[in-house]
This record gives sequence, C-alpha cells and structure tokens, in this order.
Amino acid sequence: MGKIAVLHGINLQLLGRREPEIYGRVTLESINSRLCRMGQEAGAEVYCRQTNHEGEMVDWIAELGPRDFLILNPGAWTHTHYSIRDAVKGVGTPALEVHLSNIGARESFRAHSVVAPACLGQICGLGADGYYLAMTYALSRIDSLEASDG
Ligand code: DQA
Repeated sequence: MGKIAVLHGINLQLLGRREPEIYGRVTLESINSRLCRMGQEAGAEVYCRQTNHEGEMVDWIAELGPRDFLILNPGAWTHTHYSIRDAVKGVGTPALEVHLSNIGARESFRAHSVVAPACLGQICGLGADGYYLAMTYALSRIDSLEASDG
C-alpha cells in the first residue's frame, strides 16, 4: 500500500509558541502523534517530518510516487518557492496543501500560493483540524490508489 507523508516546512517546528494568536497553542509533536494514530487505526503507513531546509524538503518529496499521498504545509515557502511546486508536480503524488491560518485573510503576500497549482486542493484557516481533515481524505484516497494498482 502507498504511504502517506506529512511534510512540514520552514518554521513549523515552532508551533505552540509561535504567534499563538494566529497558529494556536498545539505543538507539532502533538499534531504529528494524532496523525500517526489516525494512520495506525486505519492500517496505513503514515510518517511526519519537518525541515527548515529547502533541499531536504525537495529530497523528501522526491521519495514519493503516484500511489503515495502527500499532506504538505510548506510554511512561508508556499508563497515563494517554485522548487517545492516543481517537486510535487514532478513526482505526481496526489497532495493536499494545509495551512493552520487563513492565508487569504492575512498580509497580501500570503494570499498567493505558488505550490497550490501542483496540489489537488488546499485546506486553510482551520488550525490543526485542517491536518486531521486532510488525513481523513488521504486515508480514503490511499485505498483507491491501491485498488487502481490492480
Ligand atoms: C502557514 C502560513 C504561512 O504564510 C506562514 O509563513 C507559515 C505558516 C500556516 O500554516 O498558516 O509559516 O503555512
């Protein structure tokens, strides 16, 4: 069966203490453990990683294939980093872009995502719940990706 990768980009290790009025008080560790638990309960392979290094993120995306599923919060790279978009497009992995905050309701530079065109869609503004909703979708999708495998 394909794997579900949850990849967090730049600065997301600070969740819990970074601008809590915007991002909430939940830590990345607690988001990741809940996501892994959801995967375990569904019998799916789920892993979560965070990096502040663009090349490392690109390498991690390159490990994925079309039968995997990607849940991606690129952080500020969302708005500027075509390399992340090209990597997602390049591997052909179905992906959901997740943001804790509503990027359309903040500074104007955040409203645009250069990564979103490479993704199936985007969930933003729902805090940590956005990740859990993305995981629910990924778990439903991973079965059909497997089924289409023959
Ligand atoms: C973010 C939104 C980005 O604009 C910001 O740079 C982040 C976090 C979010 O999850 O709301 O680092 O991706």
